Amino acid sequence: MENNENAKKTLLSGIQPSGDLHLGNFLGAVKNWAEIADEFDCYYFMADLHTLTVRQDPKELRRRSVAQLAQYIACGLDPEKNTLFLQSHVHEHAELGWILNCYTMFGELSRMTQFKDKSAKNADNINGGLFTYPALMAADILLYQADFVPVGQDQKQHCELTRDIAIRFNNLYGETFKVPEPYIPKVGARIMSLGAPTSKMSKSDPQGCVFLLDKPEEIARKFKRAVTDSDTEHCVYYDAENKPGVANLMSIYSSVTGKTFDEIEKEFDGKGYGVFKPAVGDAVVEALRPIREEAERIMADKAYLQQVYTDGAQKASYIARKTLRKVYKKVGLVEKPF
Ligand code: TYM
Repeated sequence: MENNENAKKTLLSGIQPSGDLHLGNFLGAVKNWAEIADEFDCYYFMADLHTLTVRQDPKELRRRSVAQLAQYIACGLDPEKNTLFLQSHVHEHAELGWILNCYTMFGELSRMTQFKDKSAKNADNINGGLFTYPALMAADILLYQADFVPVGQDQKQHCELTRDIAIRFNNLYGETFKVPEPYIPKVGARIMSLGAPTSKMSKSDPQGCVFLLDKPEEIARKFKRAVTDSDTEHCVYYDAENKPGVANLMSIYSSVTGKTFDEIEKEFDGKGYGVFKPAVGDAVVEALRPIREEAERIMADKAYLQQVYTDGAQKASYIARKTLRKVYKKVGLVEKPF
């Protein structure tokens, strides 16, 4: 990803506040956002509208949405440098989402892996929103004319569909949307469950999932119990296919320490999992400690958080409004006279 100082490129991403943030969200997404804040014009939001595709406890959703903002800030997203907001506070998302629904094909939506996974998990609630979710996600991205979308591997398919929708619309109506590119980290893009390393780490599996706000003892315990394999000698080396548990722990360790896989193999040469697993746990504890402490401090300051998301929504709305107006005009809607 290159950038030129004179014309800052735009970066946008979001996370659903459907659960508390976990290590996968952090290593696959937020950590990378914080590292590039200075170079880009950045928009990060809580994708609260998206969470409604699965039933939520309203009180919990409200709590988590604001807590997520505190965690964004604690992870290093400075509100002075990044536009941080709640998706539902910028109504243009829902409006452009509707328009883009009309430019997204049934066949395309049917192929989405997230739809297939979530409808299998929520068989009693396969609602229309779950199916058309990617059109709303495309709206989130295209409203801000984003150049890059920093996400984990699992969102690549949605980003590719966003590109297809943008190209389709541009071909019909002339240049309207910037065609965005996903930006996926080389290490950490797909963190797996500590308990079942062939499945993605996700909040629906709390034992295999490390939350950013977990206490150090809890994190250490989860890593000590992490599933590896039955190798005993020369066991720490990278082989994602045959040793998924170890490969996952190496990716996590590499992401939090910056060490390469070669360096990690050397460090643990001749050592067993009894040494390796606690070492990964300790590295994660130390990486998350300042984030948890800072998040707890910020979460207590409700007035500050409200100020941040108010300013963020105002800035975001300004850009979103411009794009939506352009789109309404292109498709033939009469301009609003007030
Ligand atoms: P969500 O809320 O499921 O996940 C948020 C971000 O975390 C990444 N991620 C992971 N990365 C590595 N390993 C994992 N185990 C892992 N689990 C999650 C995701 O790839 C994502 O980057 N549809 C999106 C939210 C969204 C969005 C957007 C993102 C809505 N609108 C516009 C970008 C742009 C989602 O469900 O992510």
